[in-house]
Amino acid sequence: MIVQQLERAAPVTTAKRIAKPVEWGALHTAPPKPGRLVLRNLSKRFADSKHAAIEDIDLTCESGEFVVVVGPSGCGKSTLLNLVAGMIRCDRGDILLDDKPITEPGPDRAMVFQEHGLFPWLTAEQNIEFGLKMTGVPARQRRQLVDAALRMIHLPHSGHKLIHQLSGGMRQRVAIARALVLNPAVLLMDEPFASLDAQTRTLLHEQVQELWLQTGKTILFVTHSVGEAVRLADRIIVLHSNPGRIRREFKIALPHPRDFDSPEVGDLIRMVRKEIEDEVNRANAEQINGQ
Ligand SMILES: Nc1ncnc2c1ncn2[C@@H]1O[C@H](COP(=O)(O)OP(=O)(O)OP(=O)(O)O)[C@@H](O)[C@H]1O
Ligand SMILES: [Mg+2]
Repeated sequence: MIVQQLERAAPVTTAKRIAKPVEWGALHTAPPKPGRLVLRNLSKRFADSKHAAIEDIDLTCESGEFVVVVGPSGCGKSTLLNLVAGMIRCDRGDILLDDKPITEPGPDRAMVFQEHGLFPWLTAEQNIEFGLKMTGVPARQRRQLVDAALRMIHLPHSGHKLIHQLSGGMRQRVAIARALVLNPAVLLMDEPFASLDAQTRTLLHEQVQELWLQTGKTILFVTHSVGEAVRLADRIIVLHSNPGRIRREFKIALPHPRDFDSPEVGDLIRMVRKEIEDEVNRANAEQINGQ
């Protein structure tokens, strides 16, 4: 019943959520892209696989929407993100970003992984600066962007540190800054906080939400944590496995930041968890029956 109520409620637009003008936007010379991502009949089957990893996925992420994908291990979450990143090609269907077909990686999409993937021989600020250098951004603008990024991730005084001198949470924040500094239209995040402890995760949820509100990016985020999904998402997509299809969507129109002691949040967590459990049980039964 709560889901129906939530689904009927008007979606919260990003424009309404942004409280203050962003210094960040002013530092970029290129105009911001809307970041409307459209997946149409998207399908991908890997060689020698019995089932498609992704089959007939239809999904539109509106500009500035925070969409979280959940589902059992192996249901195709990373494949979906890798397709949008352009790292792998689909067999069928289309991916459109602001009406432009996606066929390869591009600066309009940035990915943050579970393992931060930072260069250990560079400092935090050199890591953040790296992509800017590669794309030919002039030194003065690079400096301003890196400083703004370090402030945004609440590490204004840690830019000079090497990666091994940072905590796990700090490293993930640097990885997020490195992605955001390129001003992508869409941020793709594949279990970015999975290796962090519960307290650090909670802190990073707040910070990611803050970054999202400040930058207005469209975010497509994968997690195994239902709590994380309910905390962050405008919409949760539960995937069906073998083949990877959309099983159910939960639109969440609760305001941010969400009160985790509220009955609505508790009910949502239970519903999403139940949906995933049902999918796991269905997939297990199918395997036992040899389908
Ligand atoms: N490069 C690849 N080659 C062959 N099969 C692959 C490849 N990548 C993924 N697969 C298969 O595609 C399916 C979906 O994998 P994917 O990594 O997308 O799942 P996932 O939902 O991200 O799982 P997890 O939650 O464990 O990360 C799985 O059956 C997997 O074995
Ligand atoms: Mg994965």
